[in-house]
Amino acid sequence: MSIDECERSGRLIEEAAEQHSFLPDHNSQYLDAKYWDERFQKEEEYEWFKGYKEFSHLLKPHLEASSRILVLGCGNSSLTADLFCDGFQSLTSVDLSPAVIERMRQRAADKGMGAIEWRVADMLDLPFADGSFDAVIEKGTMDVLFVDNDSPWSPRPEVCARVHRMLAETHRVLAKDGVFLSVTFAQPHFRRPFLQAPQYDWGRDVATFGEGFHYFVYGMRKGKRAADDAAAADQGMNGSSDRVTLKESPMHEHMEQDDYLLRMSI
Ligand SMILES: C[S@@+](CC[C@H](N)C(=O)[O-])C[C@H]1O[C@@H](n2cnc3c(N)ncnc32)[C@H](O)[C@@H]1O
Repeated sequence: MSIDECERSGRLIEEAAEQHSFLPDHNSQYLDAKYWDERFQKEEEYEWFKGYKEFSHLLKPHLEASSRILVLGCGNSSLTADLFCDGFQSLTSVDLSPAVIERMRQRAADKGMGAIEWRVADMLDLPFADGSFDAVIEKGTMDVLFVDNDSPWSPRPEVCARVHRMLAETHRVLAKDGVFLSVTFAQPHFRRPFLQAPQYDWGRDVATFGEGFHYFVYGMRKGKRAADDAAAADQGMNGSSDRVTLKESPMHEHMEQDDYLLRMSI
């Protein structure tokens, strides 16, 4: 091995050890604001799942340059800055962790993106008026709400209540015709019962990205549900079918657990 290769593999080992040091003792800690805040005081940057360029083509058809966008649970990911650089400049990003919000606000200002608004907020109780946003985007944040679930097939009542609080808040802050975009590893048969609950009048759209291990982008357009249901009925599908055919992946059967946080080797 050359000196360069030695140095590189040494750095990779250090990085892996550093990531490992951020693992909580128990999965339920992912629900704890203190865990995230302590983690973000040490961790500079971490991108859950994949970076923006891997799925931006699935987000952009749902967005306009003028869209008022809310990012939920931004963490220290570059998603918000990437959206800004891509021309979506009316951005508000929230997270439970004051440490990460302060860090992201400073980083954005240093890069000339001072127009982005950063706020400490709980996505289960959003501090925004009804109809404030044209798009709400989350990546891996809704998934956190499932971490203490016993089985993805029959979520516990506390998990269901928590997820519906988040969805109700998202639905509330969305303007008429606004869109909720959810980037996740969770398969439609686990997400559909939540996203398509009768209290939400949004339509649905789902697409996949990723090689081998597939991720999903769900797009729910407010006020579009009746039209989607009618279109599905016309095509002889039942009202709960998805409009885009899902690609089967050899990893699908391994994705049937919602405990991605264990499997993602963070
Ligand atoms: C799995 S990380 C995803 C981070 C980022 N979205 C990404 O794609 O890399 C989950 C993030 O959600 C935040 N979070 C967890 N619960 C939250 C809540 N109730 N409200 C707002 N943010 C929350 C955490 O602080 C963390 O930054």
